[in-house]
Amino acid sequence: MRIDIITVLPELMQSPFNASILSRAKEKNLVEVHFHNLRDYTVGNYKQVDDYQFGGGAGMVLMIEPIDKCISGLKAEREYDEIIYMTPDGETLSQGIANEISLKKNLIILCGHYKGVDQRVRDMFVTREISIGDYVLSGGELAAAVLCDAVIRLLPGVLNDETSALTDTFQDNLLAPPVYTRPSTYKGMEVPKILLSGDFPKIEKWREDQALERTEQKRPDLLK
Ligand code: ADE
Repeated sequence: MRIDIITVLPELMQSPFNASILSRAKEKNLVEVHFHNLRDYTVGNYKQVDDYQFGGGAGMVLMIEPIDKCISGLKAEREYDEIIYMTPDGETLSQGIANEISLKKNLIILCGHYKGVDQRVRDMFVTREISIGDYVLSGGELAAAVLCDAVIRLLPGVLNDETSALTDTFQDNLLAPPVYTRPSTYKGMEVPKILLSGDFPKIEKWREDQALERTEQKRPDLLK
């Protein structure tokens, strides 16, 4: 998978991609992530990327020209499966959407800033608009990092235990069951006996029951 991220704040995006699973995915050549600083695509001397909105009103709007230059340059080099715009008015990210996007080959992710981008960018280029929740961040960068994390960990070979992404919370619309590790007794608190029994069919059944019970208690909406 190749991901091209267009942003006015590439420095904000470095650390999530240089640690843990995402950096391992890059080292294993399972994903390539390229950052494009929108200021490198400006036309005038002032490296201006935003301007006041027509009709008046507070907040700056990212201009179409540098975004067009960047996206058109990328599209001339390869085909993209999706051009995703991170925005609080997009469809809310879910495990299902992450699964779907993980099957794509080339992605562009555009991060909004200030009041967002000129609507014509959305009309002309964007194929999908994604929000990470009903709250407003100061830019799309952290949202893009969240999306990339959710997607990249699903790529075959990224996680050591191939099955582990499949047993995640939400993969079957259920929350994951509780997990325990050593010691089996801690300050009087015992690990459920069944987990120490070695009876794997029974353990599997217990986990299914726990997942259902947990979902009924914490997220009954998922069962509807
Ligand atoms: N940009 C600002 N807020 C956002 C959100 N909640 N999701 C995606 N992009 C955003």
